[in-house]
Amino acid sequence: MRKPIIAGNWKMNKTIGEACELVTDLKGMVADVTDVDIVVGPVFTVLSSVAEIIKDTNIGLAAQDMYWEESGAFTGEISPVMLKNVGCDYVIIGHSERRAYFGETNETVNNKVKAAHAHGLKPIMCVGEKLEDRESGITEKVVKDHVVNGLDGLTEKQMLNTVIAYEPVWAIGTGKTATPDQAQEVHKFIRGLLADMFSSEVAEAVRIQYGGSVKPNNVSDLMAQPDIDGGLIGGASLDAESFTQIVKFK
Ligand code: 13P
Repeated sequence: MRKPIIAGNWKMNKTIGEACELVTDLKGMVADVTDVDIVVGPVFTVLSSVAEIIKDTNIGLAAQDMYWEESGAFTGEISPVMLKNVGCDYVIIGHSERRAYFGETNETVNNKVKAAHAHGLKPIMCVGEKLEDRESGITEKVVKDHVVNGLDGLTEKQMLNTVIAYEPVWAIGTGKTATPDQAQEVHKFIRGLLADMFSSEVAEAVRIQYGGSVKPNNVSDLMAQPDIDGGLIGGASLDAESFTQIVKFK
């Protein structure tokens, strides 16, 4: 059985004081949770402070992006070595906002996913179609393109340590969640791709999160789907109470 994984993507929110307050509250509220992997994804400037607060707890730490080189003349970037050093367990790669605003491509995503593994970080690789893709009936084509190219060259072991987040772009921050059936259909499709690319055992073991307007009131129906193994939560992860309700979806 796949252990659910619920991650908060804080995006460009929270100063040090705000982040510490949020994660201190959260730590107490989810201390009793053992059957879900819980992850928070703050901005780079607060990773260190948050890492200190969640040390030896059941909360894991994710960064929201990284570059693939270890060090050097790459002004403004941060490396996998640095993320590992500050205490990150995971790194979100290829979020649709990075693809849309910062020129992320399948090729850069693939470089980053491989670099994450090379340094013992687990990538949470985001894939998903835009509204116009869905309306023109090319959802599967777009998702396949993201999955196949993003994961190109991974070993089975690396794939087992990779999380995929399916985030339909039209559902992000819009309040329009994919229906559980719509999400399940794409999750099942992704699992089929993993079986073709790796093996059916790997496909059965990899966790696929859904992201896009997940809230306390819709999380249970989404999580009840057979191929939905967790959530990547934006807005609702910025509040300890609502994120806790999502983590405790059962
Ligand atoms: P919202 O939950 O705010 O829709 O954001 C989803 C998301 O982009 C998580 O990565």
